[in-house]
Amino acid sequence: MTAVGIDAIEIHTGKLALDLAETFAPEMGADPAKYTKGLGIYSSSLPDVHEDIVTMGANAAHRLMERNGLELDDIGRIDVATESAFDNSKPVSTYIAGCLEGVFEGDLHHANKGERKFACISGTQSIDDAYNWIQAGRNRGRAALVIATDTALYARDDPGEATQGAGAVAMLIDENPSVVELSKQQGYGSADETDFLKPNQQFPSVDGKRSVQVYLARMREAVEDYESIGGDLRPEDFRYVPFHTPFPGMVRKAAMLGYRHMIRDTEIEDALAPEIGRQPRQEAFDDEEAFRDAVREYMDALKGTDRYLAWHDRTIEPTLDIARHVGNWYTGSVHVARASALKRAAAEGEDVTGDRLLVGSYGSGAQAEIHVETIQNGWREEVSAFDIDTQLESRYDLDFAEYERIHDVHNHAKEVDVEELTTPSEEFVFEGRGRMNERKYRYVD
Ligand code: CAA
Repeated sequence: MTAVGIDAIEIHTGKLALDLAETFAPEMGADPAKYTKGLGIYSSSLPDVHEDIVTMGANAAHRLMERNGLELDDIGRIDVATESAFDNSKPVSTYIAGCLEGVFEGDLHHANKGERKFACISGTQSIDDAYNWIQAGRNRGRAALVIATDTALYARDDPGEATQGAGAVAMLIDENPSVVELSKQQGYGSADETDFLKPNQQFPSVDGKRSVQVYLARMREAVEDYESIGGDLRPEDFRYVPFHTPFPGMVRKAAMLGYRHMIRDTEIEDALAPEIGRQPRQEAFDDEEAFRDAVREYMDALKGTDRYLAWHDRTIEPTLDIARHVGNWYTGSVHVARASALKRAAAEGEDVTGDRLLVGSYGSGAQAEIHVETIQNGWREEVSAFDIDTQLESRYDLDFAEYERIHDVHNHAKEVDVEELTTPSEEFVFEGRGRMNERKYRYVD
């Protein structure tokens, strides 16, 4: 069986930053701690006037290819995952391919291109498609480019506004990968839900509180489905557990739930019992409400134990380093979480080669997916080449009036003419619309 997985990763952030505590909270009349401690986000990345899902995706792909010495002939497939598409027919991957053809020799005429939709989980699904294409032997020795790109904007004054973000993650899926090998087993939790959707509208209709519950319910199903084929999951089996991260507070809840599940009937549950008791078992309760109360009480106690805190600090916290400063990137978010954890390992000089990741993806509507990845020996070289810290530091810090104008610029229902706030350099930019209302791009040296 060929080893297939992620061979290279590149992250590209929107070039503007909205500081939630300093700039957003005062205008919302909110306590800054609601965002920094409650949701767990310090700032959101937002797109400048000349940026959109195509420019961010193309910029990530361009740098990934340049850094890895790739040519267009090396790419046999481009899949874009997005929930911010602006065309119901022409896929974003064709625009990105056009951008890449403008800067590299040759063309992508013989690469298969597509666009994947299932809310935030479509980035992971695109990796699956690439994996299957390679395992089926249809790739002719070529690699697949998967690009997860979103401008995750909410309507003004929606509770989701505090979780906005914009950015892209490009990933090269190939045989004998340098970063992680994907396992064959997957677990799914999928149901027809209306937690978050965009029925032919730009900004989502969101039932925020319910979406949190749906995320947890589907993730639990996915874990159980995975265990039915992959065996029991145990906390010590995984160096990191990257989850889809709409905001770090969501991951705090998912991690608690996952940990409680993974330690049930283990020596960890036994060891914690003198301190916090044993986990409530449903069969011991006649009343559902009483069972739920007991579970809540157990979870409250569990989250304060040294053992849980140490696991969380080691396994979950490193996955959130980038998300705390960029917000939700929808399709890219779980892939940012993986990259973030590996980046922390490199910064701390740790050798994680051969260690395993448990990856939890989620898309509203709704579906969760669980799979395992094994870290490969080229991970450090790849991750050390990330320039995301420099990108984050060079973002333009918006004041609130600028934020309002930028939100309007990217609102499809509004026509506003605003100067860009950053000067493009060595990047693809949006430069207006053509005769058929198509979007046009060029590379700025
Ligand atoms: N200090 C510390 N913490 C504070 C605080 C303060 N002063 N004020 C509030 N908090 C805490 C709250 O207790 C809460 O934490 P817990 O949930 O752990 O109790 C947290 O901050 C958020 O506060 P609220 O629940 O009051 O916030 P809200 O109702 O205004 O918004 C939200 C929360 C509904 C999730 C909203 O952000 C939202 O709608 N987000 C978009 C939807 C979303 O991201 N859903 C996640 C699952 S769906 C998904 O994952 C797909 C996707 O990408 C969209």
